[in-house]
Amino acid sequence: FHVDWDIVTAEKAGFDHFMLKEIHEQPKAYRDTMGARLDESGKKVVLNEVGMTPEQIRAIRQVHIVACGTAYHAGLVGKSVIEKLARIPVETDVASEYRYRAPIITPETLVIVVSQSGETADTLAALREAKRCGARVLAITNVVGSSVAREADDVIVTWAGPEIAVASTKAYTSQLIAFYLLGLYLAQTLGTVDEAYIAEVAAGLQELPEKVESILAQADTIKEIAEQVSTHDNLFFIGRGLDYAVALEGSLKLKEISYIHSEAYAAGELKHGTLALIEEGIPVIALATQDDLFEKTVSNIKEVKARGAHVFGIHAEGDAELAKVVDHTFAIPATLPLLTPALSVVPLQLLAYYASLARGNDVDKPRNLAKSVTVE
Ligand code: G6P
Repeated sequence: FHVDWDIVTAEKAGFDHFMLKEIHEQPKAYRDTMGARLDESGKKVVLNEVGMTPEQIRAIRQVHIVACGTAYHAGLVGKSVIEKLARIPVETDVASEYRYRAPIITPETLVIVVSQSGETADTLAALREAKRCGARVLAITNVVGSSVAREADDVIVTWAGPEIAVASTKAYTSQLIAFYLLGLYLAQTLGTVDEAYIAEVAAGLQELPEKVESILAQADTIKEIAEQVSTHDNLFFIGRGLDYAVALEGSLKLKEISYIHSEAYAAGELKHGTLALIEEGIPVIALATQDDLFEKTVSNIKEVKARGAHVFGIHAEGDAELAKVVDHTFAIPATLPLLTPALSVVPLQLLAYYASLARGNDVDKPRNLAKSVTVE
């Protein structure tokens, strides 16, 4: 008994919970996942684990990304990344839906399955269905030798290290890194973006770990916001484009461990329904990190402000505009718009963590949830 307790304490390396430890391990997880996959010049991606020939890559007509939970949210970012860099149409689906909607899978389809554990039953079933239809399957997983890794044609391992907390953090962000590398790799082969842009994204990737560290150093600011949020029973996350994908993940994290009901909404869609739920004092977490969508998001923020919402805005450093329309701001370090999810999700992970803590919940083992779901 006592021995177990000591081991667990030791494994937490001084952190109160595995989740907090894993949030803090992200800079290392980013570095390890990039590792030798960026060549010495730092301008080119080397993915030896992807066995597709240039001809096979050129033959890809569509990409399907299939996953569950947090990995699905990484897949939503992956869709934007691959479409932007490689100009191939991408659909992202939850695995439990994909199989039953008679998806159009052909040998020209690349199916990417994303799974931290590599053992999720729905994801594994989707992988098998894709293979049955003749598609090539590429897995992004954190577990070498897992079922998904064994059955896929190509495997990109995320080197996040073991993730113990049920709520996924470093596995999600490592999946984002894997998507950035894959997107660059496909773009390099297809010639869809110029070398200078590839070099710029690659340089941006290498700066991310340090930038995550600077966000982690401001955890106390997030803790204060989380304590305010934790007294509410409902809140909203809004954003556009990549910010919307991150909003979905932030909302899931909060629900999983704080048990506060929240909804993530595409900011421009609010007026088509959800705006009816905005009332005096309701917290809204607004992400506005995308330059080209900034003005549009600000106008949506004004819509919720006008109805009494209390808005916490997340923006890129150096932008002074958001502070004029929201109640509180949190700045993430500036980076390329494409790379912001790997930074903007970190304050949301901390928000969920501290809100759960403030509510006295079991952060690492939320009720009703399991780390790995091996039943359909
Ligand atoms: C469970 C976990 C989630 C996870 C999902 C998919 O529901 O609680 O955190 O995102 O499974 O897991 P996987 O291992 O396939 O990424």
